[in-house]
Amino acid sequence: MARWASLSWLILGLSSPLVWAGPAFENSAIVRTVDLGGSLVHVTTTYAVRALEAGQTAYQFALANDEWKKTSWTEVKVKGQQNTLPLVDVPQAADSDAHLFAVTLPRNLAVNDTIHLVLDTVQTHATYPWPEKAGQKDPQLLKYDAQLFILSPYQTQVQRTKVKSSSPNIISYTTPEGAEQFAKDEVVTKSGTTLTYGPYANIDPSVGTGFVRKHQKSINVHYSYDYPVLEVKKLQRFAEISHWGSNLNIEDKIELRNSGPALKGHFSRIEHQSSGFYHSVSPHVVNSLTLHLPAGIHDAYYYDLNGNVSTSRLRTVPSVAKNSKANQYSIFEMRPRYPVLGGWNYTFTLGWDSPLADSVSYDSKEEKYIVGVPVWTLIPGAVVNDAEVKIVLPEGATDVQFISPFPSLSEEISTHVTYLDTTGRPAVSLDYKDLTDKHTGMIYVSYKVPLSAHLKKPVAVAAAFFSLFFFALTARRVDLRLHKE
Ligand SMILES: *[C@@H]1O[C@H](CO)[C@@H](O)[C@H](O)[C@H]1NC(C)=O
Ligand SMILES: *[C@@H]1O[C@H](CO)[C@@H](O)[C@H](O)[C@H]1NC(C)=O
Ligand SMILES: *[C@@H]1O[C@H](CO)[C@@H](O)[C@H](O)[C@H]1NC(C)=O
Repeated sequence: MARWASLSWLILGLSSPLVWAGPAFENSAIVRTVDLGGSLVHVTTTYAVRALEAGQTAYQFALANDEWKKTSWTEVKVKGQQNTLPLVDVPQAADSDAHLFAVTLPRNLAVNDTIHLVLDTVQTHATYPWPEKAGQKDPQLLKYDAQLFILSPYQTQVQRTKVKSSSPNIISYTTPEGAEQFAKDEVVTKSGTTLTYGPYANIDPSVGTGFVRKHQKSINVHYSYDYPVLEVKKLQRFAEISHWGSNLNIEDKIELRNSGPALKGHFSRIEHQSSGFYHSVSPHVVNSLTLHLPAGIHDAYYYDLNGNVSTSRLRTVPSVAKNSKANQYSIFEMRPRYPVLGGWNYTFTLGWDSPLADSVSYDSKEEKYIVGVPVWTLIPGAVVNDAEVKIVLPEGATDVQFISPFPSLSEEISTHVTYLDTTGRPAVSLDYKDLTDKHTGMIYVSYKVPLSAHLKKPVAVAAAFFSLFFFALTARRVDLRLHKE
């Protein structure tokens, strides 16, 4: 343990002595709350941290490796505050079963001072249907696996884990054996929709394999989930900026999948409709989705593999001022062509236009335009396995720079050539994996458009027009009719 500790101090660039002088902190209490969902599982862990040494500000968190693999979003705040604390990965020691990351505390703690830290994570692909197949009228049952003990490099006085289900119908859950030595009372208790594992007391530092091999237990919860398990296998967002038409077009191609239990047998529309009549519509069937599109949009379109889908409704609101805090959006109620049952896919395209002025501002000092494009339009409860966002800038744009609201998997600047372009347009492409409801925010792109580039488009159009014109002129002189015998 001394090895990772000194390593991490080095990484964090702190002026602590390299010799490990004993633990800097102790966890007086840790409470973890797991909100069981479908595609997304939100986990909030609150740490009451007591300083054992004065002047230490680097606190380390640990997640079991298999939990870390499922974790798509991580965020740390001081309890009750808005600012997130920057996270730094801590290199993993060979003998560790845990992924470690550190924050720098915003203030120095005196000995015995306590600070409350809140770690928010979102897990994806963490639940699975069980049984894997179910009839149209069966409830939707899922399973979730977790590790019993919350790991930490520090001694923990007391910890507990609450697992909350949105439905009181918890089919079964693990009662771990061998945890009695830590349990103050019962190993696990169930009350309504909540299971509580612990409180468990006096847990030694647990990030080495020693603790994990000896004490760690897997737990499993089998529960009923009454909402669709939505997965976007692939999202392709294409945003095109036109200064000439003063327009921002956004188009999404979405491969949606209902990842609940696969339908057993045939789909019966009569059963589906009759269950709808008695207001007990199978809640895990996707009949419609409500999406929040930007304010000020127009000419929205929605089509699937069979063409235009006319059973949807869009309520637009007028554009809002760019820096206004007003949270206004257009509401799009989309109804897929058919109810999307467990195991079914539905691929569709959704697009709209909006006034460019709603998304672009001009920095006259730098002579640059700055455009903001949202990474994606949230589909409530859904995970996006793979997302590709491509932002196409006006022809001739130079000095292209961009910033993503969170790290991307890969990013590049390329050239996109379309009809009537002379040199092609610079395009910024970003790829992401496992987007969740926390992955909101804008990709900002800045660029310059020289005056000559502004003129290129009209010149290209004029050229195209004149070549057509001359073609027409010459074509009239050439007899294109077939010669008759
Ligand atoms: C910190 O608390 C412990 C026990 O709660 C006590 O023994 C110790 O004297 C305290 N140290 C300081 C510097 O207050
Ligand atoms: C597509 O359907 C919408 C109704 O959702 C309708 O307003 C629109 O005119 C249709 N478009 C075409 C090209 O048929
Ligand atoms: C849905 O798509 C997945 C691949 O993404 C495929 O394996 C599966 O067979 C599809 N389901 C149906 C019902 O077509």
